[in-house]
Amino acid sequence: MLAMRAMGSRPKISCPFTVPLYKRRMNARPIIIAVDGLAATGKGTIARRLAAHWDFAYLDTGALYRAVGVAVLQAGGDPTDAQAAQKAATALNPASVQALMEDPALRMPAASDAASKVAAIQGVRDALLKFQKDFAAHPPAGKKGAVLDGRDIGTVIAPDAMIKIFVEASPTIRAHRRFLELQGRGENVTEAAVLADMAERDARDASRATAPTKPTDDAIILDTSDLTADQAFEKAAQIVEDTLK
Ligand code: DC
Repeated sequence: MLAMRAMGSRPKISCPFTVPLYKRRMNARPIIIAVDGLAATGKGTIARRLAAHWDFAYLDTGALYRAVGVAVLQAGGDPTDAQAAQKAATALNPASVQALMEDPALRMPAASDAASKVAAIQGVRDALLKFQKDFAAHPPAGKKGAVLDGRDIGTVIAPDAMIKIFVEASPTIRAHRRFLELQGRGENVTEAAVLADMAERDARDASRATAPTKPTDDAIILDTSDLTADQAFEKAAQIVEDTLK
């Protein structure tokens, strides 16, 4: 069984130097914050806010898989078709990734489903690997650090990330959050259907042979079930602060 570190139990790092670790690292390798977790745990909001707070670059890696899934659907293909999915992943242009992130089509339930299917294909993951690793190693716009959110940031993309946060929440709460989000966008869905879709996607994301969603031994678990978005961010920010000082 994985020895997961719970929130708050991280050993305090006593700093023998007068200059904080954060400042000593300013000219060194970028500070990488890995934020992993299943859908609707709040990891996206947390990661975005951490990046804004520390002025780090931010990458929503789920959007890459969503873009591949949507590209396959738009071409009339099947997201479980490894050849079609790999072709779409290879064609993804890093220069257009930032614009892609804002595309509302990526947030639709069909995109979530397609993304989860293409994400289980090794060739797709391989095609997206370099872009993500490069982003972490060389954050754009000369930023001193990068926050990446996804499923395999701590395990595959940036196993040496300085900070790893694995965000969790109960399935019913996650489904409720996603239901409200979809309803707010005018989608005609029921909460039961959202819960069922989510359970199917969770099972696929967590049990797939390639890069299954799971925390590493050195990840800090942050359960957001009973937290507001602000509280979740504050806890995550505290984890980062504790590590950087
Ligand atoms: O985080 P999200 O819901 O936007 O992710 C969409 C899908 O992409 C999700 O079902 C799992 C997959 N994914 C992945 O396999 N690895 C990542 N680093 C990010 C997302």
